[in-house]
Amino acid sequence: MHVLSFANNKGGVGKTTSALCVAHALAEQGFQVALLDCDPQANASKTFQVPAGVPHLGEVLEEKRSLAQALYRVGPNLQLVRAERSLAQQEKVFGTQPDYIFFLRDQLAGVTGVDYVVIDTPPSLGALTVASLVASEAVFVPLHPEFFGNEGMTALLDMCSRLQKNFNPKLRVGGIFFTEYAPSYRRALHHQVVQQLRDDPALGPLVMQTTIRENVALPESQSMRQSIFSWAPQSNGAQDYRNLTAEILEKVG
Ligand SMILES: Nc1ncnc2c1ncn2[C@@H]1O[C@H](COP(=O)(O)OP(=O)(O)O)[C@@H](O)[C@H]1O
Ligand SMILES: [Mg+2]
Repeated sequence: MHVLSFANNKGGVGKTTSALCVAHALAEQGFQVALLDCDPQANASKTFQVPAGVPHLGEVLEEKRSLAQALYRVGPNLQLVRAERSLAQQEKVFGTQPDYIFFLRDQLAGVTGVDYVVIDTPPSLGALTVASLVASEAVFVPLHPEFFGNEGMTALLDMCSRLQKNFNPKLRVGGIFFTEYAPSYRRALHHQVVQQLRDDPALGPLVMQTTIRENVALPESQSMRQSIFSWAPQSNGAQDYRNLTAEILEKVG
């Protein structure tokens, strides 16, 4: 079982969209996928029709259920562990427990029949992000190519290397990829930021080939509660996320 997370402590950079689209793409390719919504904003969960009363991640943190019991099937190859707003409060209590760091890793050990776990994380470096990274073999970092866009990422990368050293030797940065960006856009400042990152001796090798273009079909598909691949299979969004998934599979498959 491969465990991948999408993280960046900045909000609005495409974590949820990427986790969703990559989960859908992997499921479409025939893999068994579990999507874990670790963000109390529950944006990923809201893109699925889930009846009230279905277990949510907060109950898992409170050890009322196991993670395996909270998996809810949302497609032939896709299961979801949904989040609820109450997760914000539950995360605070969770973070005070001495062994919270290993909690998701240990809970995932009880999940069977899944090829890929995809984790959407909140825009912070709090307890749920830490536990997600300790459970992951690779973290992928979506980034807007803005002048101050890197700052959040640097803190995240520092944390990854500390977690890798102390708690999860398997963890690596699978890649950094630019969102709402294309080399063909007429935005000189963005290109400059992208070039600087590609030229950086430490970060450059982490920058992925695929960039995700701005595409209205992506938010549309989310509000229509459909996968981008069924909502607009020919869209730039679908195309870019197919490419990103292929690049991810090259790295972890
Ligand atoms: N490539 C894109 N093109 C257009 N809109 C996008 C794109 N990626 C994300 N969005 C939209 O931008 C908003 C923020 O994206 P989201 O994935 O929720 O970011 P995060 O999870 O990092 O906060 C959402 O409304 C989403 O639908
Ligand atoms: Mg999000």
